[in-house]
Amino acid sequence: MPVITEIEDFKRLYRRRVPKMFYDYCESGSWTEQTFRENSSDFDEIYLRQRVAVDMAGRSTKSQMIGQDVAMPVALAPVGMTGMQHYDGEILAARAAERFGVPYCLSTMSICSIEDVARNTSKPFWMQVYTLKDDAFMKNLFDRAKEAKCSAAVITVDLQVLGQRHRDLKNGLSAPPKLTPASVANMMTKIGWGMGMLSTKRRFFGNIVGHAKGVSDPSSLSTWTAQAFDQSLNWDRIREFRKMWDGPLIIKGIMDPRDALEACNVGADAIVVSNHGGRQLDGALSSIRALEPILDAVGDKIEVHIDSGIRSGQDVLKARAMGAKAAWIGRAYIYALGAMGQKGVKQALEIIQKELDTSMALCGHTDIEKVDRDILMVPKDFSGNWA
Ligand SMILES: Cc1cc2nc3c(=O)[nH]c(=O)nc-3n(C[C@H](O)[C@H](O)[C@H](O)COP(=O)(O)O)c2cc1C
Repeated sequence: MPVITEIEDFKRLYRRRVPKMFYDYCESGSWTEQTFRENSSDFDEIYLRQRVAVDMAGRSTKSQMIGQDVAMPVALAPVGMTGMQHYDGEILAARAAERFGVPYCLSTMSICSIEDVARNTSKPFWMQVYTLKDDAFMKNLFDRAKEAKCSAAVITVDLQVLGQRHRDLKNGLSAPPKLTPASVANMMTKIGWGMGMLSTKRRFFGNIVGHAKGVSDPSSLSTWTAQAFDQSLNWDRIREFRKMWDGPLIIKGIMDPRDALEACNVGADAIVVSNHGGRQLDGALSSIRALEPILDAVGDKIEVHIDSGIRSGQDVLKARAMGAKAAWIGRAYIYALGAMGQKGVKQALEIIQKELDTSMALCGHTDIEKVDRDILMVPKDFSGNWA
């Protein structure tokens, strides 16, 4: 068994175990992938300030997100088709998250349905909702989330149109997949993955098939997907969604202080500064660079979280010290899930927590709640002086 010491180790195993089309689906950004790359590399421009001879005993990474207790300020971000990365992927990731004590957010485009995840877990999870045209479907989705006792709804606002990811088109990854001969040939070499997929019935979009009008089987999905997303979305429409859901609400996909202010006006409890992991607008700033101006605009009004590019506990620490209340991870746990299932996700969370805890200690802190900007050295123009 290989010795796993960092998230990158999972990525190597994941690449070997999972069909190329699903690896590529995860490990890509839109167009040139500039934003995808910079989401991670921009963290390297922020340095940590080492302190010594400070009492480092009795440390804690415990925190809260939207008033809910968490073992560390990290959440598992919604990732579509997680159940194709590993059989029953959403259920396994949700279980690992609940055992570790961090929130799991289920995607609208998941393979396991809301009900299925609820039946197979024991703590509430969060439900991500895409902004679709069909009011009846939207209302029903919020009702289903409520029925499943989801403890927050997360409305993703950065996907009215889809950013083009070249590799998905080349691999025939669509909903449902249009397999190319090369994809089929590659899939047949992934024996462990294939055996797992054969052992489960969960292979289609569980929240859509049988719930969206006219989608009774996977073959009708592509027509539905093509027209389902609401290109004319505006903040009034988001206010309507707010009325459909009276629980805690998080708005995900904010990159501009003006949009952050709009999210506050809608009555959200938190926002996630996110560029969808570089999968939507290529050429946008990395999330970590976009964070500060947003904090300046709304930091005293709403909880501000961040995602995109986070691959380690040090990244979490930097995000937190910059002022984000919490960091969400996407690919970091998908690598681990694809590589080793539930056990992998649990181990990935442990690795991140250890990196967070040790780095925090070496910066002279014992409590994540007390960490502030003082532990960082950030280039003066990090957030940019743009014309
Ligand atoms: C394969 C994949 C699928 C995703 N699917 C969704 C989704 O269904 N809904 C959503 O709101 N965000 C989705 N995202 C974006 C993530 O929620 C999150 O914003 C992103 O992964 C953060 O970047 P990171 O992967 O670098 O951590 C997806 C991301 C990936 C990598």
